[in-house]
Parts: sequence; structure tokens; C-alpha cells
Amino acid sequence: ITAVTDTLDIKITKTSQSKLAETELTDLPFGKVFTDHMFVADYINGEWKNFEVLPYGPIPMSPAISALHYGQAIFEGMKAYRLPDGSISVFRADKNFARFNKSATRMAMTNIPEEVFMKGIAALINLDRDWAPSAANNSLYIRPTLFAMDAVLGVKASADYKFVVLTTPAGPYYNKPLRVKIETHYTRGADGGVGAAKTAGNYAMSMLPTQQAQAEGYDQLIWTDAKEHKYVEESGTANLMFVMDNKIVTPEVRETILDGVTRDTVLEVAKSLGYGIEERRVSVEEVLEKIASGVLTEAFAVGTAATITQIAEIGFEGTIHTLNDPANRPVSAAIAKKVNDIRYGLVPDEFGWNW
Ligand code: COI
Repeated sequence: ITAVTDTLDIKITKTSQSKLAETELTDLPFGKVFTDHMFVADYINGEWKNFEVLPYGPIPMSPAISALHYGQAIFEGMKAYRLPDGSISVFRADKNFARFNKSATRMAMTNIPEEVFMKGIAALINLDRDWAPSAANNSLYIRPTLFAMDAVLGVKASADYKFVVLTTPAGPYYNKPLRVKIETHYTRGADGGVGAAKTAGNYAMSMLPTQQAQAEGYDQLIWTDAKEHKYVEESGTANLMFVMDNKIVTPEVRETILDGVTRDTVLEVAKSLGYGIEERRVSVEEVLEKIASGVLTEAFAVGTAATITQIAEIGFEGTIHTLNDPANRPVSAAIAKKVNDIRYGLVPDEFGWNW
């Protein structure tokens, strides 16, 4: 990716009370323990300023900010991995940066310069480098967020914004294969809506349907299209993939589906391993038929937090459809191994993804 220049003037204030010595870095519950520092920057009067790495903690803000009332807020999820030589690599940061600004544009927010995004993250990780876990399947999850700071209750795009980056050592988001329910009432994204943006409200609106599915014994949902509830779109907070006839089949990216970085990574790696790829609409009917006929041999969710999470069972209108044993899924296992080997620097980075 583009080199990060040294021109950004970042003020660095180190904590006097590091929590590192008292923190066990392996397999922490996702996103609960934050590193010692955070990066913040302000967009005020049309200008990016106040670049600062400082101790993680509360940020003063007005209770009237538009982010709180109207949800003008976006975020990203990225991961940093510790490589065998002890250095730290951020995976595909350029992709997350591009999507961050795409989300910002959809939510009528200012875009962030690449230098602020990259250099802020680099400065933060450099200071908190000892927080990056070295245990297998663990990494440092990076959470950049941008939110509207105007303290005005009129409904309009904010003029001022705050950019914050948090880092948190993380194990797997899910620790077991999932039982998912095909959701046919609630909807995640509609044509013309914000499904393709990583914006706060997409996650807020998912909570009630997810709770209801969990009360029925499921772990997560499979979202279907808003118009007919006929086509599968995403799974929970991740993209959705199947193996059918030894090919990877996944809903094509559209206005209702997030253009997942891990989705792209899995497809690129699958291609490099010689698997065919089909990006297209996938109907609920096709999924259920192909489970029954044995053509659909694997199903999994792919996300930065989720990585590759196996789907064990799919529920539709009260009937549970059980898939092949998640422990015996050769296609996704081969892809997951290569993805991980690249991320952790165990094989040459043929795609140029590690920064
Ligand atoms: C991911 O799996 O990468 C996600 O987006 C989940 C995140 C909202 C915790």
C-alpha cells in the first residue's frame, strides 16, 4: 500500500498506568479489553487537526451531537497480526480505508485523508505494539470510527467530525459452528438503503431480530432480500458463502450487501487454490434443495471479526436443515489455512496484503 509519510504531526501522550502486565492476551472475549492508548483526530471548520495518541479513556462531547441522535456514524474492523520475526502486520488496510470513505460518503460525512487514517493507526499500534497477541488465531483488532460532532438537533449532515481508533487484543469472535435462522420478516438492507455502508444503524437494527432468533435457539441470522425474502444476503455481521459442487458460491455484492474485505480475501485465495467462484443471487430455495441433495457441502460466514466461521445448521420456517460435519469441510479448511498462513506471515505474501 501507499507509503505512510512522516508529515503528520501527531502528539503522543503515554499512559502512566499501563494495564498490559495484568492482562492475559490469549483468547480474550471479543472487544472488551482495550489497549493502553487510542488515536483521535478532529475535523473542524473544514480542516483535519488535533492528531493525538493518548491514554484510552472517555472523550468529552456534547449530549446533543448528531451521532447520538441521528446515527451519523461509521466504523471499520481490521486486524493486525504478529509475524514470526516479532513485527506486526496490518492486513489489507488499504481496502478498509477505501470502504471507510465509501461509508462516509453514503452517510453524507466528510472523507478522511489516507495519511490521517494510516498514520494514526500506525502511530497507535507502534506505541501499543506489545499488546498484539502471538497465540494462534489471536490478533489485534483495530476499530476506526468516525462520528458527527455538531451539537444541533436539526436533521442535517454535521459539519464537524471526530475520528477515533481503538485497538483490542482479540481471539475468535465465534468459538463454535453456528446454528443460523433464515430471517423472512426483518430486513437488513434494501435497494436504495445503507446495507453496503458500515454504519452504526445497520448494527442497531439487527439486535432485536437477533435476540428473537436466539430465544428460538439460534446463534445468528441469515438475512434475506427486503423485497421478497427470497434470496439470502448476509449472515449476522458477516458475508455468507457456500460450497456447491466444489465451487464457492456467494451472494454478489450489491447495494444491500457489505463489500467484505474478508469476503474478497477468501475469494482471491479460493481462486489461487483453483476453486471456481460464482458471485450471484442465491435463493433460499436453492440452498435448501442443495443441502437435501448433497450438492451443498459447506456453508460459512466470513468477516474480519468472524474470520471463517462454519455454519452447522440452517433453520427455515421452523425446520432445521443439518449440514455436513463442520469438522470435515475440506474446501473452507484449505482456504482458511492459506488465508491464515498469509496473515501470520507463514508463507510468502503473494498478494501484497500485509502492511
Ligand atoms: C466482522 O465480522 O468483521 C464484523 O463486522 C463484526 C463486527 C461488527 C464486530
